[in-house]
This record gives sequence, structure tokens and C-alpha cells, in this order.
Amino acid sequence: MSLLYRHTTKPELMTKMSQLAREELTHFQKVTEILLERKIVYSRLSPSRYANKLRSLIAHEEKWQLVDTLIVGAFIEARSCERFAALAPELDGQLQRFYLGLLKSESRHFCDYLELAQKYSSADITDRVQQFRLIEEKLITGPDPDFRFHSGIPESSDIVESFNSRK
Ligand SMILES: [Fe+2]
Repeated sequence: MSLLYRHTTKPELMTKMSQLAREELTHFQKVTEILLERKIVYSRLSPSRYANKLRSLIAHEEKWQLVDTLIVGAFIEARSCERFAALAPELDGQLQRFYLGLLKSESRHFCDYLELAQKYSSADITDRVQQFRLIEEKLITGPDPDFRFHSGIPESSDIVESFNSRK
């Protein structure tokens, strides 16, 4: 949403980002419906280390700021895809269908972000993506104190055990 308002001279970005935001909000609405149905109280979580760290690497110089923001968006969406795919087979029918639907959207979003990043960069973005990839890989494979959708390896063995013994 903030990209929409910040880049008013880039119509393709505005179009794609407004489609994407609308879709994400539809998903949010569906999540709130499922929570209500299942009598689960929504509680706010602190932001993940993953997204915080990636966002902290976004350049401040104008030349790269938008491109980096879009690359980070692409990584977050791609990881979401991976996680929805891993979790879906473990879930009941309703959630499985929902997660597989999310997976499909996220895979589109991740491509949209990357295409836009290349479109608004004056140079090839391959090296830039690679720089983020190296740090992203550390975040996802390293120990993580917080258990979130995009966590690295949970530090607490309690979380791993309770996940493995949940059936
Ligand atoms: Fe998304």
C-alpha cells in the first residue's frame, strides 16, 4: 500500500500493487472468518526477524530503494509459497484448500515483484538478488529465537517437539 502512494509516476507499479493489496486483504478477510468459525482469538504477533532483517538491508539511495523493496517482497512471497506447500498436506480439508489457494497467489506475487524490480532498475538485478539471497539463506537456515511463518530453525526444542507430536 505504501508503494502505491509513494510512486505515483509509475502506473504499472500502481496497478500491480493495488491488485496485490486487494488480494492480500481478501486473504486476510478469509483468515478472520476461519478464526471466528474455529473460535480462535486473533492475537497480534511481533514482526518476524526474517522480514525485519531483510527490510533493514534496503538501500536508502533512491537508485536502489524501490528495486530493493521489490526484491525483498519477492523473497517474502517466495518463502510463503514454500511454507504453504509444506504445511498444506498436514491440514484438514478446509485449511488445505485455503493454503493451496494462497500458495497459488503467492507464486504470482513473487513473480510480479521480481518483474517490477527489473523494470524499475537501470541495471540487471541478478547480482542484487544474489546479495539478498545470501543473507536470506542465513536467516532461513540459522537458529531463530522467534517462531513465525518465516522463521529460521526454532531455537527452542519445545516448539519442534510440540509440532512433531501434535497429531
Ligand atoms: Fe502475497
